[in-house]
Amino acid sequence: MRNAVDLRVDLAGVELKNPVVMASGTFGFGREYGQFYDLSELGGICVKGLTAAPREGNPPPRIAETPMGILNSVGLQNPGVDAFIAQELPFLRQYDVKVIANISGNTPEEYGEMCEKLSEAGVDMIEVNISCPNVKAGGLAYGTRPELAAEVTRMAKEHSAVPVMVKLSPNVTDITEIARAVADAGADAVSLINTLRGMRIDIATRRPILKMNTGGLSGPAVLPVAVRMVWEVAGAVNIPILGMGGVAKGEDAAQLMLAGACAVAVGTACFADPYAPLKVRDGLAKIAGEQGLDKVSGLTGSVRPW
Ligand code: SIN
Repeated sequence: MRNAVDLRVDLAGVELKNPVVMASGTFGFGREYGQFYDLSELGGICVKGLTAAPREGNPPPRIAETPMGILNSVGLQNPGVDAFIAQELPFLRQYDVKVIANISGNTPEEYGEMCEKLSEAGVDMIEVNISCPNVKAGGLAYGTRPELAAEVTRMAKEHSAVPVMVKLSPNVTDITEIARAVADAGADAVSLINTLRGMRIDIATRRPILKMNTGGLSGPAVLPVAVRMVWEVAGAVNIPILGMGGVAKGEDAAQLMLAGACAVAVGTACFADPYAPLKVRDGLAKIAGEQGLDKVSGLTGSVRPW
């Protein structure tokens, strides 16, 4: 009988017990999903995007279903970084799982301040969000311009005692340009992709379905875009990649790893099936085993392009 596949992966010096991380914004702070299974089963949890002050987010409707996905315009609703540290981090710390804090700032200085607080509070890693399509300040304004993306990355690195991963937007002409800019500025890893900007219209009222008119598309429909972008970024930079976008099963995760990701995040799939991340983990182990690998990390970057 074959030995079990070693599921451990290294994400910029942070060892994950398996490659499955919960994507920011789809898992809250873990409390609801903790009613379904032991959160220690996961490789990592990337928490809902945090801001310096609490935010109520955008007005509803802010979620709309699409064929093979959803559009969201949540607008970074969250209790603020201080409340997260006081009330949510102690809950997450009960579990043997890596905690990744996703942060969004209005200015580079705000990113720096949050990095300082969160690394002192003991998160394992920081995901710098420069790709939220649903806010006016920060977000995409930083993620679509290499020099601003680099400035935010430098500020985050200067003020962080834990590895910094920068979350990239697919809403750009050339994602490798932004990936290179943040890697050169010292990012320890990149995560991609955030959502693709989209829109739905109610033809009877002629009104957009979302109150903010547009939102970000996620779910199975975006997987091929994510795979393509992970592959392009893997060819452009030498830092680890957390791949995400439409992962619902082991085969999806395996594609992102073959394209160059060392770990994967599961997001929208959890809304339909809270157990999706565990199924992705088990599916990946099965695929790696069937392909004769001792370690799941053997999948990373091993695509054979024509
Ligand atoms: C949101 O809260 O609007 C989504 C966050 C993101 O896309 O980064």
